[in-house]
Amino acid sequence: MAATFDVKLETTVYHPDPSYREGARMGDWETAYQRFLDDPEAFWADIAGELEWFRPWEKVREWNNPYARWFVDAKLNITANCLDRHALGDRRNKVALIWRGEEDGNERVLTYRQLHRQVMRFANALKGMGVGRGDAVCIYMPLVPEHIVAILACARIGAVHTVVYGGFGASALNARIRDANAKIVITADVGYRRGKRVALKTIVDEAVVNAPSVERIVVLRRASPHLELYSEMEVDFHELMKGAGLACEPEVMDAEDPLFILYTSGTTGPPKGIVHTCGGYMVGTYYTTKYIFDLKENDVLWCTADPGWITGHSYIVYGPLAAGATVLITETVPDYPDPGVWWRIVEDFGVTIFYTAPTAIRMFMKFGDEWPAAANLESLRIIGSVGEPLNPEAFEWYYRVIGSSACPVVDTWWQTETGMHMITTLVGEPMKPGFAGRPIPGVVADVVDREGNPVPPGIGGLLVIKEPWPAMMRTVYNNDERYQQYWNTINSCYTAGDLAVKDEDGYIMVLGRADDIIIVAGHNLGTAEVESALVSHEAVAEAAVIGKPDPVKGQAVKAFVILRLGYEPSEKLKTDLTYHVRMSIGPIAMPSEIEFVQSLPKTRSGKIMRRVLKAKEMGIDPGDISTLEE
Ligand code: WTA
Repeated sequence: MAATFDVKLETTVYHPDPSYREGARMGDWETAYQRFLDDPEAFWADIAGELEWFRPWEKVREWNNPYARWFVDAKLNITANCLDRHALGDRRNKVALIWRGEEDGNERVLTYRQLHRQVMRFANALKGMGVGRGDAVCIYMPLVPEHIVAILACARIGAVHTVVYGGFGASALNARIRDANAKIVITADVGYRRGKRVALKTIVDEAVVNAPSVERIVVLRRASPHLELYSEMEVDFHELMKGAGLACEPEVMDAEDPLFILYTSGTTGPPKGIVHTCGGYMVGTYYTTKYIFDLKENDVLWCTADPGWITGHSYIVYGPLAAGATVLITETVPDYPDPGVWWRIVEDFGVTIFYTAPTAIRMFMKFGDEWPAAANLESLRIIGSVGEPLNPEAFEWYYRVIGSSACPVVDTWWQTETGMHMITTLVGEPMKPGFAGRPIPGVVADVVDREGNPVPPGIGGLLVIKEPWPAMMRTVYNNDERYQQYWNTINSCYTAGDLAVKDEDGYIMVLGRADDIIIVAGHNLGTAEVESALVSHEAVAEAAVIGKPDPVKGQAVKAFVILRLGYEPSEKLKTDLTYHVRMSIGPIAMPSEIEFVQSLPKTRSGKIMRRVLKAKEMGIDPGDISTLEE
């Protein structure tokens, strides 16, 4: 069976003001991409050369499909680049971290020097508990500065961190602690969310039962009166800091030593422990932060992800700090106490680069333009998106309302496995809503059929990466066979598992996961495509589409729709929506059923779990739902 299908490509092209291109660090795509093609190793060596190494590499890369080594035999410590490089130089008093708590006025600021000192102290504290090179440490914390300190302290001493998002429950946490064999768990008594306390420590208590590897639990106590710590196993974060020495030399790591394991849930199957290494990951995240976000010295970067996801690892912690940026983090959610809170934060701190997810953008669209309009967003320079396809309607709203029809929108396609941005539209280049853009210089991507042959523009196929890149994962922890599958499914290419289509200019539109395909009467339909069509109707805030068994067509399309404020469910509206999909994609995509709902089942990173909708619809067991938000 061919994996290809026709996709409509016409779109409006947006041209950013020429000043963006003139000032862009990367320059224009053609020239930069050609520079990469002319000598890929020199290209990456130049970037790596901007960073500090204890010992240089013998070879830029060694490729033995599916195994890559980058910056062979080089020695480094990523924190020497994220901290010492700045704290011992001109950036010592530059703000590294701005934290905004849930309550107004609850703010903290750490300079590079302060962050450096805290990380060294906590690194010594970890050493004092017997944590060393190669030991696994699990971090399960709310989004507070100590979370970042904990991550960097592990990296400082060569311990392998595995961050688990604070929204996961005890069994998911237990599974990750066990798989990684974590020696220490670092947590907090509580996180704050929507004015309520989330009792993280209670969840850890449950999660460490049947986790024999865990020796100690470090608790950051935030609430008063202080939570009581019981057993010998439990230690207070601040007590540890008080007792620890200040100076901690960075551990000398090999470029290929593991830096962290991050479990990715995805929408199907058990979580996979994606392993990233010190050298290549550092170079990839540094490069993309600096050149894709076009980072300038005075930028304030706000990536709204949680450090529990790869987006937080790469674009809150490692990339921005390696590049010496000022990073904003916040414990607030987008709609509490009201849907204006994030826009007030942008204004208060003069955020210049804002990076969020389509699901948040669509949520803001639903709340209405008055919320962003109430804040001054003039500081914004570049706005980004990641995590799902940014459908054209959401792109246009984001560009117009948040970016004042001026800021370039960088819709970045990448994955936990890729570690860094892979496909996007460079700052200053023409933007096409619905298309992420072209492979960035350094990345070779294409759209192919199941045999690995490139498909022509306008024909959908599978998204693959054809050459290794520095920040690629090196294995799946405890499951190298699963790792090999990424590279041996299609003709020695890395298979991303996404469907995509190219246009004549090489811009790539990512349609969604290949496993989210519905086959109606022999036609392949991406759920993402039908959802995008639904969302382009003025009444629709969000939509999810599944295939339902149909005696005639094989599968029929069923749509779950959340309406925007001000619209009421009605039979008439169902007919309108069906007609709208027919006009946008064609009769084959017409939903045979539409159900109006208040919410959709999502993973904690905001991806719709169609599998859960489908199971419910068909009255079957949904399988593993440990990644479900609620
Ligand atoms: C999807 C998040 C379309 C895609 C960094 C990918 C996107 C999966 C985009 C990885 C984008 C991410 N446009 N789809 N800009 N960015 N995706 O591992 O399906 O949480 O395979 O990494 O998200 O999700 P992950």
